[in-house]
Amino acid sequence: MPGKVVLAYSGGLDTSVAIRWIAEHEQAEVIALTINVGNQRDLEAIRERALQIGAAKALVVDARQLFVDHFIIPALKAGAVYEGQYPLATALSRPLIAKLLVDVARAEGATAVAHGCTGKGNDQVRFDVSVGALAPDLRVVAPVREWELKTREDEIEYAQRHGIPIPVTKASPYSTDENLWGRSIEAGILEDPWQEPPEEIYAWTRSPREAPDTPRYVEIGFEQGVPVSLDGQRLDGLTLISELTEIAGEHGVGRIDHLENRLVGIKSREIYETPAATVLLAAHAALEHMTLSKDQLRMKALVAQAYADLIYNGLWFTAHHQDLAAYVHSTQRHVTGTVRLRLYKGTCAVVGRTSPESLYDYSLATYDKGDRFDQRAAVGFIQIWGLPVRVQAQAQLLAQPEGPLGFLEAPKQ
Ligand code: ARG
Repeated sequence: MPGKVVLAYSGGLDTSVAIRWIAEHEQAEVIALTINVGNQRDLEAIRERALQIGAAKALVVDARQLFVDHFIIPALKAGAVYEGQYPLATALSRPLIAKLLVDVARAEGATAVAHGCTGKGNDQVRFDVSVGALAPDLRVVAPVREWELKTREDEIEYAQRHGIPIPVTKASPYSTDENLWGRSIEAGILEDPWQEPPEEIYAWTRSPREAPDTPRYVEIGFEQGVPVSLDGQRLDGLTLISELTEIAGEHGVGRIDHLENRLVGIKSREIYETPAATVLLAAHAALEHMTLSKDQLRMKALVAQAYADLIYNGLWFTAHHQDLAAYVHSTQRHVTGTVRLRLYKGTCAVVGRTSPESLYDYSLATYDKGDRFDQRAAVGFIQIWGLPVRVQAQAQLLAQPEGPLGFLEAPKQ
C-alpha cells in the first residue's frame, strides 16, 4: 500500500507540479490541503485542480477564525513587528498551516507532510520546525528544495510533459503571499533595493497620490488589548480586520518597503501591504501609552521585539513563546479604551485616545488652572535625584586632566 503525504496546496505552479512530483518520487498518495487564512481565491477551483492533477484527495479548510483568535490577536497584543517594520503576516500563518497539516496527516494516517517552500527562505524553517515540534515522527517533504527544476520555465515544461494544467494566473515576475494580516511581495525588480516599487505590485492599497483628498477618521475600541469595535460598532475580529483593510487600503495606508534580515542569513527586500495591521498596531500602541506605566512600557517593548523575533524565526511552538505570551496577556488587563486615527494619503496618525483606565491625569499635567502638581516638591526631588551625579562629578570628573566632559570636551588648540 502506498504511503500518504499531505501537501499544503496553494493552487500555484510550484505546488501543482509538486502534487505530481511527490506521487512519483515518494510513490505516495498525495492529499492536497488548501487552507484559507484570508487569501481571496477560488478555493473550490483550487480543490478541483488538485484532483485533476492527480491528488488522491483534496481538502479545503477555512482557518480564518483560528488565525484571528490564536495568531493575529496575540501578535497584536504583543505589538509584534519584525525589525520595527514587518507585522509578520506571512510568518504568523506558517505555524497554523503546520498544525493543520499535522492534524490532517493524523486523521488520514499519513507518514509525511509537504510544502512548496524553496531552500532559501524563512518559510521552510517555520514549517519544518513547527512540524518537528508537533509531530516529530512525520517526515517533511519539500519538493521545491529538492527537485532539479531550476526555473519557472523548467516547471512549466515539466507540467506540460505530465499534463498538469498550468494555473491561469497571468505571468508575474513577483512572488506574493497573502492572508488577513497582510500581503507580502518579493522578487522581480524589487530585488534591486535602489528601485522604487512599481505601482503594479500593489493590490490592497490605493496609491497615496490617488487616495481621497478628504481624510477618513476611524475609531477603534479595545477591551483588554483586543479590538472589539470600529466607529462605535461592535464587530468580531474577522469582520473588523476585513473592513479596516478596505478602509485603510482606500487611503493608501500600510505600504511597507523593508530590507530585512532573513533567518538563513540573506538580506532580502520585501514589500508589504498591511492596511489593517498598520492601523491596529498604531491604535493599540497608543492605548498602551495611556494605560501602562513607564516601566511596563519599557519592558513590553523588549518583549515585543523578542516576540517578533520568535514568530519570524519559526519558534511558535516553544515554551519560550508560552512564557512571553503569559507576560503579554498580563500586561493587557487594563488596555481598554478607544483610539481615534486619521487616515490620509498613505498616513495613519493617532489623533486621540480615551480610556476608563487611563493613567493620564489632567490635573497633574495641566499648565492651566486646576493644577494639583506641587512644584515646590520638585526641588527636594531634584536634590535627591541629582545626588549621585554631584558626588561622582566631585570625586572623579571635575579633576580629570581633559576636563569634566572627558573625551567629549572640545579639542584644545
Ligand atoms: N519575508 C516574509 C517572511 O519571511 C514573507 C515571505 C513570503 N513572501 C513571498 N513573497 N512569498 O515572513
